[in-house]
Amino acid sequence: MPARPRTKRATKTKKDLSAADVPESARARVMELSDELRRHDVLYFQSDAPELSDADYDALRRELVALEAEYPSLLAPDSPSQRVGALPAEGFETAPHRSPMLSLDNAMNEDEMRAFEARIVKLLEFPKGGSQRIDLVAEPKLDGSGVELIYTKGRFVQGLTRGNGQTGEDVTVNLQRVPSIPTRLKSDDPPEIASIRGEIVLPLAAFEALNTARVGREQKPFENPRNAAAGSLRQIHNVDFERLGSLEFRGYALAEGRPAEFDRQSEILDLLRDWGFVISPQIGICHGVDEAIHFHERLLSQRGNLPVEIDGTVFKVDRIEQQETLGALARAPRWAIAFKFPPEQAETVLEEIEFQVGRTGALTPVARLRPVRVGGVTVSNASLHNQDEIERKDIRIGDRIVIQRAGDVIPQVVRVRLDRRKEALAEGRRLARRGLPARCPVCESQTVRLEGEAVTRCANLDCPAQLKNNLRHLASRSALDIDGLGEKRVDQLVETGLVAQLSDVFALEEASLTGLERMAEKSATNLIAAIERARQTTLPRLLIALGIRHVGETVAELLTDRFETLEGLLAASPKEVAAIEGIGPTIAESVSRFMADPSNRKELARFGELGVVLAAPRPKSASEETPRQSLEGLTFVLTGTLSRPRGEAKRLIEAAGGKVTGSVSRKTNFVVAGKDPGSKVKKATDLGVEILDEAGLEGLLTDD
Ligand code: IVH
Repeated sequence: MPARPRTKRATKTKKDLSAADVPESARARVMELSDELRRHDVLYFQSDAPELSDADYDALRRELVALEAEYPSLLAPDSPSQRVGALPAEGFETAPHRSPMLSLDNAMNEDEMRAFEARIVKLLEFPKGGSQRIDLVAEPKLDGSGVELIYTKGRFVQGLTRGNGQTGEDVTVNLQRVPSIPTRLKSDDPPEIASIRGEIVLPLAAFEALNTARVGREQKPFENPRNAAAGSLRQIHNVDFERLGSLEFRGYALAEGRPAEFDRQSEILDLLRDWGFVISPQIGICHGVDEAIHFHERLLSQRGNLPVEIDGTVFKVDRIEQQETLGALARAPRWAIAFKFPPEQAETVLEEIEFQVGRTGALTPVARLRPVRVGGVTVSNASLHNQDEIERKDIRIGDRIVIQRAGDVIPQVVRVRLDRRKEALAEGRRLARRGLPARCPVCESQTVRLEGEAVTRCANLDCPAQLKNNLRHLASRSALDIDGLGEKRVDQLVETGLVAQLSDVFALEEASLTGLERMAEKSATNLIAAIERARQTTLPRLLIALGIRHVGETVAELLTDRFETLEGLLAASPKEVAAIEGIGPTIAESVSRFMADPSNRKELARFGELGVVLAAPRPKSASEETPRQSLEGLTFVLTGTLSRPRGEAKRLIEAAGGKVTGSVSRKTNFVVAGKDPGSKVKKATDLGVEILDEAGLEGLLTDD
């Protein structure tokens, strides 16, 4: 297969020169320049703290470009000279996979495994009377993050996340730091192009160390090793090289570059091992489904002692020829199956039930456990959902309980070991009778449980617990994205009274921050800089940041599409909000109630006074931009019955760069009138807005 361009990034034409001809001094200088430029890129683009003038920066860059032009073998794919414009702020470049990265079908029990075997036996149409035995390779199902690694002529050139299976994110620069990914294949005769598929995992010991360090730095711990692995791989700002160094890559497939003489999956695993990859040691060949089930049971019994998390056994038809006959459906191949393990359970003692107050004031019971290891992870909390669940399962403090971990670190309580309950569980009984606290455990105001609701809430809107949660939410990535406002920092700001309402964040000053415990001068400067950056935001982000119930990204976008500005939204009547397509009555009421509340209006005005500026939303990412948009800048209003659903017409207009709003104003460019149009046509006539029929719209959409 001819090599095709892999990323959208520009690459240069190089004259070929073998690496041996490069003087050592040039090699050293290229490395030095690359490191320096990378450091300055971070200072400039991410820390807003450049140390060099633009001219000095350009001089360094030009020197690098010149050396790379002279010695093309020194041009690394991730060289700073290859970067065009700003570092990607929203994410990584994307690139297509060489062939789709498929998923796996699951079997949950022996019957489903037998059905899998029966299916393939049938599809392979073995001659009658002959052997119907199929060899299956058994491999641990690694619970990590799938990636594709591309090697050209044996050199590692590109690594992609699985993404949507067709295209993934180009995380080459990060994968280059993973020790078990060889930069060169150990082979005298590597294929022209090899696509190796495998899993990036974070070993359990490294996972726990990472989470301990994160908690120490006031960052949210990762839910499970899988998320931590994916998160580490996708680091884009202030990349933590140590974290990347603790990841492990394990290979399991060769999607391209298979030498002809290798015609079994088991041989491919050997080949990958010879090339220098780590292959899971627990590999077996099973002759038929009975052996496969036996293998699975043995692996399950070893599960707790393995250094990495696995969640089942993958069985693959060994002979590649048979794999090819069986083929694949859209989502998964017919020649492989993942036999999943049941969730891991463990027993421990419930030491206490505490209540946490959420962003909306909801009180959630949390079980504090005597720490116990489940599947390699130590857990000390379990979720209890709500009071009904406590009562239904008759859970009491002091009980021995069975907990279950299905991938996440926070497990669920499965049941109480009633047979082990001691008579004297007085505290437990008291709790069962007492129900949820009548007063908020944080601010001590009265709690309420509305009829028909499963949750009890703290009714005090200024409750510090709610404020803390709201503040965390305000700082989160989809909201105002303020780096450095982690869990502990938020607690501190609220507890010291520096933040008593959300807008106070924008009144913070470096001097008052440096007075806080564990706040180094540098962190204070960084936090103030992050807040400064957050002042320039967009209406959707601000709406998300306010923590209005039911308002997430989609609703925030819909409100912005309709009202355009904050002033527009504040002036809108509840009816106008409720009329927006895609916004139901509950959401509309929540939005209107929030906007009508005088203290919220004051708070919004204060954001403005403290320098928060709303700009037009940025396009999501470069890759989503369409190069040519024929309806760019035009606003449409649809009315009457159209021959296609209104949502579809709206999407077509938006795809061509236009905007669709709900009501006619002077800013409207076209009103598209279907059958039985309403008052909007009259309003358009009054305002002198052009009216189109459907054919007119089609004309605009096709006429480019
Ligand atoms: S083979 C077409 N082998 O599980 C073959 N996948 O649920 C698909 N996974 O996306 C991949 N361990 O990320 C294969 N030994 C193993 C695996 C494995 C873990 C992951 C992989 C895949 C997912 C499907």
